[in-house]
Amino acid sequence: MADKTRGTTLFVFFRFSAFLFCLLLAPVPTSSHRPKLRFGLNGEFKILQVADMHFANGATTRCLDVLPPQKAHCSDLNTTVFMSRVIAAEKPDLIVFTGDNIFGFDVKDPVKSMNAAFAPAIASKIPWVAILGNHDQESTLTRQELMKHIVKLPNTLSQVNPPEAAHYIDGFGNYNLQIRGAAESSLQNKSVLNLYFLDSGDYSSVPYMEGYDWVKTSQQFWFERTSKRLQRVYNAEPNPQQGTAPGLAYFHIPLPEFWSFDSKNATKGVRQEGTYSASTNSGFFTTLVTRGDVKSVFVGHDHVNDFCGKLKGLNLCYGGGFGYHAYGKAGWERRARVVVAELNKKKGDVKAIRTWKRLDDQHLSVIDAQVLWTSSVNGSVASRL
Ligand SMILES: *[C@@H]1O[C@H](CO)[C@@H](O)[C@H](O)[C@H]1NC(C)=O
Ligand SMILES: *[C@@H]1O[C@H](CO)[C@@H](O)[C@H](O)[C@H]1NC(C)=O
Ligand SMILES: *[C@@H]1O[C@H](CO)[C@@H](O)[C@H](O)[C@H]1NC(C)=O
Ligand SMILES: *[C@@H]1O[C@H](CO)[C@@H](O)[C@H](O)[C@H]1NC(C)=O
Repeated sequence: MADKTRGTTLFVFFRFSAFLFCLLLAPVPTSSHRPKLRFGLNGEFKILQVADMHFANGATTRCLDVLPPQKAHCSDLNTTVFMSRVIAAEKPDLIVFTGDNIFGFDVKDPVKSMNAAFAPAIASKIPWVAILGNHDQESTLTRQELMKHIVKLPNTLSQVNPPEAAHYIDGFGNYNLQIRGAAESSLQNKSVLNLYFLDSGDYSSVPYMEGYDWVKTSQQFWFERTSKRLQRVYNAEPNPQQGTAPGLAYFHIPLPEFWSFDSKNATKGVRQEGTYSASTNSGFFTTLVTRGDVKSVFVGHDHVNDFCGKLKGLNLCYGGGFGYHAYGKAGWERRARVVVAELNKKKGDVKAIRTWKRLDDQHLSVIDAQVLWTSSVNGSVASRL
């Protein structure tokens, strides 16, 4: 009995301490509680993009567009197995889900489906983030409810929206992540690579502008402010740096400028369907090129396009369809895109950004390796400074 009382007293004490501790932390934004991302001692930071899982109910959800002999034994679980394999093969530092994570229309319980869809990433203990596509909310949860659930899952760095912009920004799932220099280097406390995640919405609700949604003016405004703020910090003491740190932007629906490429003049990869962007051009491409820090945009949405093309110094890259319950092309393997940023060993800033894709075949074949950007004086950074 006595022991029990003592236990309770101790418990109350601990609870009270925890409460005080939380009070102390209260003014600090939640992001400071989360693990900080930085380059590894090998001088690299690797990102795995998973586009369009279209996960539904697991074992009972059949695959679309696989070869006739593959039909009988193929379900959402193949998507799960592919993810576990590619995570094990690449050991990324961050996993990015670029929307249509679940195919809401076929989903019975969106919370269950989302938890199952992200399960291999959660099990890997690798930090991960997700944004939404146009199909995620087609079940019983709204886009806001979906993001509110995602941010509570283990090891995620996703945010519903940035606190400083929450009162004006459109959509749910706009945020920025900063990747600091390698430990023990002079840039260990500076962000040397900036990631932007944006909610490209689902369907237009504007009369006379039907079709898919777009990155709104409020989001572009937030992007521009954030990019300028990050540059000020990058250029400031201690260890002031020149120019901007490179950035990468991830969202779901392609910009209309993705239309500028076909299989022949994309730098790598193929076009096998149209670009299903918004029917209007919201100018985000111009905003990105004008600002100049983002070197590549990564989207999903059009599953059987997987190219990168370079327009006005900005790379436009598709991830390529990942999920088996998503439409695809029978015999054309499901795939994932990997991006690696590499540090300049001497200065500690980013020297190059490369990409390749992994196919879901027996050997997880690597294809279409290419350099997206380098910091050489002849590179795009110098011409914009
Ligand atoms: C899906 O997984 C099953 C069971 O492991 C396997 O037999 C089948 O080949 C996979 N299908 C595809 C298309 O990868
Ligand atoms: C980085 O920050 C840590 C902790 O504040 C500090 O001890 C260290 O000296 C800083 N290093 C550099 C290179 O700025
Ligand atoms: C690529 O080729 C297509 C078709 O020939 C053309 O319309 C487009 O302008 C080209 N794009 C670039 C960036 O050269
Ligand atoms: C930049 O380009 C010039 C002329 O093409 C070349 O001579 C020089 O070696 C290049 N510099 C670097 C660092 O690539």
